[in-house]
Amino acid sequence: MVLSLKSIRKRFGGIVALRGCHLDVRPGEVHLLLGENGAGKSTLMKIAAGIERADSGELLWHGSPAAFRTPAEAQRAGIAMVHQESLLAPHLTVAENIFLGRYPTGPLGWVWRGRILDHARRLISEHNFPLQAEARVGHLTPAGKQLVEICRAIAHGSSLLIFDEPTSALSSGESEEVFRIVRTLKARGTAIIYITHRMEELRAVGDRVTVLRDGESVYSGDMSATTTGDLIRHMVGRSFEAVYRREPLPPGEELLRVHGLSLRNTLSNVSFALRAGEIVGLAGLMGAGRTELCRAIFGVDPIDSGAVFVQGTALRLRSPRDAVRAGIALVPEDRQRAGLAPGLPTGQNMTLASLEFLSRFGFIDTARERAVVDQHSARLRLKLGSPAQLAGRLSGGNQQKVVVAKWVARGAKIFLFDEPTRGIDIGAKAEVFDLMGELAAGGAAILMVSSELPELLQVADRILVMRQGRIAAELPRQTTQEVIMRHAALEAC
Ligand SMILES: Nc1ncnc2c1ncn2[C@@H]1O[C@H](COP(=O)(O)OP(=O)(O)OP(=O)(O)O)[C@@H](O)[C@H]1O
Ligand SMILES: [Mg+2]
Repeated sequence: MVLSLKSIRKRFGGIVALRGCHLDVRPGEVHLLLGENGAGKSTLMKIAAGIERADSGELLWHGSPAAFRTPAEAQRAGIAMVHQESLLAPHLTVAENIFLGRYPTGPLGWVWRGRILDHARRLISEHNFPLQAEARVGHLTPAGKQLVEICRAIAHGSSLLIFDEPTSALSSGESEEVFRIVRTLKARGTAIIYITHRMEELRAVGDRVTVLRDGESVYSGDMSATTTGDLIRHMVGRSFEAVYRREPLPPGEELLRVHGLSLRNTLSNVSFALRAGEIVGLAGLMGAGRTELCRAIFGVDPIDSGAVFVQGTALRLRSPRDAVRAGIALVPEDRQRAGLAPGLPTGQNMTLASLEFLSRFGFIDTARERAVVDQHSARLRLKLGSPAQLAGRLSGGNQQKVVVAKWVARGAKIFLFDEPTRGIDIGAKAEVFDLMGELAAGGAAILMVSSELPELLQVADRILVMRQGRIAAELPRQTTQEVIMRHAALEAC
């Protein structure tokens, strides 16, 4: 075995993250690590990579007991990890981040900047990544940051690479590139641990699989001997009806109308309307303008021309505050940066957008606040020690649910969901869809951006397809993935 973890336990204060986990990784295999949000996947891997220390248990590295006290120690031994949350230094360049802590030095310990740039450029072009070695990381999209993390992990030949949801922010083309890298590394004999919530990736990359549930390893086996149904059952501890089908309601009055919206070179003449009770899907390739459209409607980026009407009244959209007043909510794509206050308690994060309803005479009605938090935690199956737990300390998927809860708690009537299920486990996805269905049934209108076409087809009542800043097509719910892709990708349809 390259790596054996035995009976690993770990608590964070009152929260038990791992209660006796086992994992065996063989040389040259791709080992999938699956489990619901909060199951303990990232924590187990952080222990292997020297970022967290186990309370008890044993780690064998190439058969010998080992304990890595720092990430640098683990790296020297040959373990590298691509993190779920970006741990990059935003003020440094792509090249500097890739070689951070391992700069090539010349005589007298001088750092050779030229060499760093050369190395980085070679690595980037070898893998065809859309990255500029001298760009500042702070200016990159979530996908760009993810690619830098991957470069960083593969820059020095490790014998074990851990990918913690490497593709959750990537387009399908970029994901393909990640699979290619995984296969190349595997062919060179590198062992890989791969965490993902995307069921369709499992067969594409995995040799063996281990499933965690509630901090315990509940299943290990060969992928060829395991059906997807088995995996879901192990993950959620019950059989799961994977197919979510929504019966559309007759749409009600028009809540939102977007007319002729244009924004520099990202949006051109976009028009559509949302009615009460509707869930409208928004499909398109990366860069088609979907996120930009949501941001423009929400008043984040000032528009050049066009108008947004809420229930027939034109909005003056100078800032998100205007949009929020008009009853619009945006659940952004980059939740880590734009949606979550990681240093505040989870409970406060959930009520942040609705303080005016929860306070009286300037004081927050804590009983009502608590009720709102309890209700939404249960609704989204949020694994929470207590509402006082800092949001930044939640598992990646649970952080996403908190941002969704924040806007649902506020009771907005027009929801813009930008990739609402990214990084969310399969059980919670169904909860999020149910919730969207309930919001719609309660008279809300929903625009849902998603790159997961099967999800759009399950949930949306009709689907708008964007291409190069325009609405290229409007399709009924009975359409197919192929038709959507054709409109999203082709120049002329
Ligand atoms: N630093 C921390 N402080 C407190 N609690 C923590 C900390 N890190 C993790 N936890 C808790 O440990 C549990 C396991 O979290 P972990 O991040 O390992 O889950 P995960 O399986 O990676 O989930 P996801 O799929 O959502 O990323 C969660 O309940 C989480 O809130
Ligand atoms: Mg995680």
